[in-house]
Amino acid sequence: MRVTKIACIGAGYVGGPTMSVIAQKNPHIQVTVVDLNKARIDSWNAHDLNEIPIYEPGLAEVVGEARGRNLFFSTDVDGAIREADLIFISVNTPTKTYGKGKGQAADLKFIELCARQIADVAQSNKIIVEKSTIPVRTAATIKNILDNTGQGVQFQVLSNPEFLAEGTAIQDLHHPDRILIGGEDPEAIAALKAVYEAWVPSERIITTNLWSSELSKLVANAFLAQRVSSINSISELCEVTGANVEEVAHAIGQDSRIGSKFLKASVGFGGSCFQKDLLNLVYIARSYNLHEVANYWEQVILLNDHQKIRFAEKIINSMYNTVNGKKIAFMGWAFKKNTNDTRESAAIYVADHLLEEQAQLTVYDPKVSAIQMYKDLDALGNRSPEENRALLKVVNDPMEAAKDAHGLAILTEWDEFKSLDWMQIKTVMKKPAFIFDGRKLLDAEEMKALGFIYYAIGEKH
Ligand code: NAD
Ligand code: UGA
Repeated sequence: MRVTKIACIGAGYVGGPTMSVIAQKNPHIQVTVVDLNKARIDSWNAHDLNEIPIYEPGLAEVVGEARGRNLFFSTDVDGAIREADLIFISVNTPTKTYGKGKGQAADLKFIELCARQIADVAQSNKIIVEKSTIPVRTAATIKNILDNTGQGVQFQVLSNPEFLAEGTAIQDLHHPDRILIGGEDPEAIAALKAVYEAWVPSERIITTNLWSSELSKLVANAFLAQRVSSINSISELCEVTGANVEEVAHAIGQDSRIGSKFLKASVGFGGSCFQKDLLNLVYIARSYNLHEVANYWEQVILLNDHQKIRFAEKIINSMYNTVNGKKIAFMGWAFKKNTNDTRESAAIYVADHLLEEQAQLTVYDPKVSAIQMYKDLDALGNRSPEENRALLKVVNDPMEAAKDAHGLAILTEWDEFKSLDWMQIKTVMKKPAFIFDGRKLLDAEEMKALGFIYYAIGEKH
């Protein structure tokens, strides 16, 4: 079977970039990305490529190349389903906020809605591909819905999790470490494999059974998050012993069995997936009564929560145990550099903790809008929207953020922060001028020489 038309349900951080690259590399395949969110689709269709809804280095160029040729963005979900031979489901799978499994299990209502809609509309055989991250054995649910509510057409369900990281999505999609395809039907697997073989070497395409593929996605994120929590736990030990976490990370990372990646101590991991997928893994383990397994992985999240609060507490304690009425500048709000995504960003939780202490925050982030920042804070429900707007100001200039601030905290590792005029920043801040470097971005000696009281994660000062 040769795929000629692809539909992707969900035009988010995964659906948008992934389909753009698939379309770029397969000019003979028509790729239609659909979403219920009209505003999002309108942005994907924006004439000015700077206005597409997701900021990712290199994405606008890829969209510019394929859009209108064989890449389309639309709200006509039914139409795209009807026409496609292969449908990616790329909708969000957030943590449940209600009922059984609240706060832990993945909410599969969007996945189920997609399966029902496909079953309703499809009039020809289709391959359905789980691109979203889902709990192990979800393919059985999807197949069950399709077979029981469909109109007699044949559906093959494959698992094809996405491993891209935000900020490097295009690089990751162009040069993936591996593509993982889980499934039972050799023809369907071969059809999906052929789509990727347009640019990915065959030996990088791994095929497994459905359940291994589904579970591997959760496990990959759990292992990555675990490394961050592991080094963050050591950062606290470094701060009290005089060891330097960067030196420790370098020393252990040189061991090829350990490897050097994902050993950067930070204010805590954020992003839409690490916590959600860990919680999901914990929930699955508990539901099989594997309590030791669940407790083991849960600790990765608990340590991450501790790291965020510990950073906020460090700010308060260093500034003479009170931040009430003091201006603190935040450099960065995104959960990592090179993305405008703020989901679960450590900055949100550090800010919330400081606002509880009545600090006055002024935030500068090169890519995140003020609307988004307020949305993030309001969603916590700890203060009224009016209070959040009174206590936190958003500015477009780092110097303005720093002006008259008692302290400055680095929350995101944007490259541009390294080359700010730190001498000038010191001049405009109140004295003593504190820097709290949650990303270990700046040079400690240089900052101290400029006269800052400089605190960095994982360093004694
Ligand atoms: P997202 O929230 O950015 O996008 C999901 C989109 O799906 C939204 O625009 C929403 O409107 C749309 N949608 C939901 N239900 C729909 C329906 N029934 N019909 C049409 N559209 C619908 O989410 P995302 O970050 O792209 O993540 C999607 C999935 O991919 C999640 O399971 C996530 O865990 C996984 N994932 C995300 C990343 C990442 O970097 N963000 C990486 C790998 C995997
Ligand atoms: C992560 C995985 O890296 C992807 O493979 C996966 O596809 C994706 O989750 C997903 O399933 O959504 P992402 O969250 O976009 O990607 O970004 P990461 O680079 O993994 O960073 C996650 C968080 O960990 C960020 O807050 C980052 O600052 C932090 N981090 C990362 C550290 O604090 N230290 C490190 O050494 C690495």
